[in-house]
Amino acid sequence: MSSENIQAALPSLEIDQKVARQIEDFELPEKLGFGQVMAPVMYRARFREGVWQSSELLPYGPISIDPAAKVLHYSQEIFEGLKAYRYSNGTVALFRPLENWCRFNRSAERMCMPAIPEAIFMEGVSAVSAFMADHIPTSPGQSLYLRPFMIGVDADLGLAASVNNDFYIIASPSEAYQQGSFKVVIERRDCRAAQGGTGSVKVGGNYAAALAAGRRVHSAGYDQSLWLDPSEHRYIEELSGMNVFALINGVLHTPELSGSILPGITRDSVMNLAKQVGLTVVERRIDIDDLLATIESGDCTEVFACGTAAVITPVSVLADANGTRYELGDQNPIASQLHTLLTGIQEGRHDDVFGWNWPIEDMFSFDKGASTYSGKA
Ligand code: COI
Repeated sequence: MSSENIQAALPSLEIDQKVARQIEDFELPEKLGFGQVMAPVMYRARFREGVWQSSELLPYGPISIDPAAKVLHYSQEIFEGLKAYRYSNGTVALFRPLENWCRFNRSAERMCMPAIPEAIFMEGVSAVSAFMADHIPTSPGQSLYLRPFMIGVDADLGLAASVNNDFYIIASPSEAYQQGSFKVVIERRDCRAAQGGTGSVKVGGNYAAALAAGRRVHSAGYDQSLWLDPSEHRYIEELSGMNVFALINGVLHTPELSGSILPGITRDSVMNLAKQVGLTVVERRIDIDDLLATIESGDCTEVFACGTAAVITPVSVLADANGTRYELGDQNPIASQLHTLLTGIQEGRHDDVFGWNWPIEDMFSFDKGASTYSGKA
């Protein structure tokens, strides 16, 4: 889609004249990794004194905020992660963007920030994807990872919610987060998020709280921490940035949403796909010691992580804090079947029976005056 066509489809979006040139000059490097290559374009909408201002598409670059901005002192920040895919027929589609919009607004409410209208969120993700259409990588596992985020920008050290907030969307042509499987360490000491805290929403602070454990894990040669519940340190919750599943005696188990676990959109997709192929899915509290016993007895045959960035990634080893290792092996037929089904839908190779894919051309029918987006039922 040309810049003129995008502008015609989104007349209220202010498109900086430098954007088209930046896109033209952009070249996808051979090695992408995850979140390392930035798209040369970004979307911004500002909330000022209770009103969303006109939205803009800008060249990607540093942003300027006051050193006293609330986000820098009180972490008033929320974000999302979603992906756009380019199919072999050229169609560009977003995967379940409405779910990300809904979760973004749940995060906004928890962090005392303004809700973002559906039309702005959808305009932003579709405009960035449309501009980047020719640069979305298409090998299996590759996509355009979109990162919407909002920050409180009031320059005022008083502890109160920011009145003014900036919403941005940046993007990164990426591969899956992890190549191969995860080696995981059970985090027996710290916790990621407290009951009644912010664990069930997507705020930067949750991820910052996981960094120290992450460093310990990496220096021991592992990849991820497995967090336990914050009250008893007994029930498994999630990995840092991913949900977790275990296949025990042929039944798929995952921690029930406890209030300190992020309700993953991929988690929900995995549960739907598993049921579609006839698996029983159980959401429950999973005692870590019971899980380890089932790995030892051979009843638990697979553990895997899932998330937007990670997609579905098997866990090959679970190590306890005392150094005991529980090996899961490298045969993961169920994780691999679910991965094939999920990426088949996301990458446009399989029928989208759930209606999860949103081709961006269908999304250019916004009524920014209305509170709801009218592009797709
Ligand atoms: C995502 O999967 O989108 C996340 O936000 C997790 C992050 C650790 C990359």
